[in-house]
Amino acid sequence: MTVRIGLIGPGGMGQAHIARITNVLFGGKVVAVCDLDLTRAKAVAEPLGATVYSEGATLIGAEEVDAIMVTSFGPAHEESVLAAIEAGKPVFCEKPLAPTAAACLRIMAAEEKAGRRLVQVGFMRRYDQSYRQMKAVLDSGEIGEPLMVHCVHRNPTVAQTYTADMSINDTAIHEVDTMRWLLDEEFVTARVDRPKKTRNRFPHLQDPLILILESESGVRVDDEIFVNIQYGYDIRCEAVAETGTVSLADQNKIERRDSHGHHNEVATSHIDRFDGAFTTELQSWIRSVEIGEASGPSSWDGYAAAVVCDAGVKALMGDGGTVAIEMIDRPAFYSNDASVVVG
Ligand code: NAI
Repeated sequence: MTVRIGLIGPGGMGQAHIARITNVLFGGKVVAVCDLDLTRAKAVAEPLGATVYSEGATLIGAEEVDAIMVTSFGPAHEESVLAAIEAGKPVFCEKPLAPTAAACLRIMAAEEKAGRRLVQVGFMRRYDQSYRQMKAVLDSGEIGEPLMVHCVHRNPTVAQTYTADMSINDTAIHEVDTMRWLLDEEFVTARVDRPKKTRNRFPHLQDPLILILESESGVRVDDEIFVNIQYGYDIRCEAVAETGTVSLADQNKIERRDSHGHHNEVATSHIDRFDGAFTTELQSWIRSVEIGEASGPSSWDGYAAAVVCDAGVKALMGDGGTVAIEMIDRPAFYSNDASVVVG
């Protein structure tokens, strides 16, 4: 079976996903495209032979479309995801599931009413081989209980349109989800420390910043967010446990020695650094649609990340104090959704 996919919002991320589905993965084909920018939609659809829709709702309802991908702006996600659930079609939604916890709760309610999981959220780091090996080591218990995790998330630069809250809602959200998954527990408090600011930032940004999260069992996670580091896209993570540590290795693909010394290439973007994770993530989603069993990060994970990020933004905008994170209990409907299907 070929899964016929309708994609809403083919910007940077959407086009990267389309290229992967078309050139790398098996089992899926993008047959329909919709964008607010009709010229962009036509340019993307034409080489695929896909149909262009001017309305997301019409694309979602189209008979030729089996499953939906939502890669539009965060604030537009809820409408498309709810319509896909209403139509009973599986939907892959880029992060964030929605920008507010209240919107995520509405999506969870609709999914629960539909009676089966239909939503996968684009938290692709869970599919990264290195993070998965870290998790396997921690889950084995061989180095004892994790006590602290040190994370680093550095981007070369960001656009002027990048608002202060995006450091948490757009950037740190990846560590928020990955740490919930890695530690298999929820966070209870958030705090933000504000180091000296880089001169390479737009004035409205606190850059860098450190988001500090504490989990239910007391694990302390610190996450350096530095979005104007200039030199590249650099993701690091070290978990410190009772009798050992485990960390992501350096992500360079080659090592170079010459008369200037010993150098490594540094990734320049998420597309480069998480290439393998995106491939596995999407292949897994297509496979899950084929077999009719949603897997991977769920609406619950989208909600939990939104709640933690809300607290993080409150801490960033506040007086430096600690903010309590309060979330609903995990509904039984989402009790079983940790599995990752890989095609
Ligand atoms: P972008 O701005 O390049 O593309 C968004 C596209 O959606 C634009 O073409 C825009 O016209 C279209 N659009 C917006 N609202 C729409 C609507 N209601 N109906 C139809 N089209 C609509 O943005 P980008 O960077 O591709 O980000 C898209 C999503 O992907 C965001 O949610 C973002 O957070 C997420 N993302 C995820 C990453 C990851 O590492 N997983 C990395 C980068 C982005």
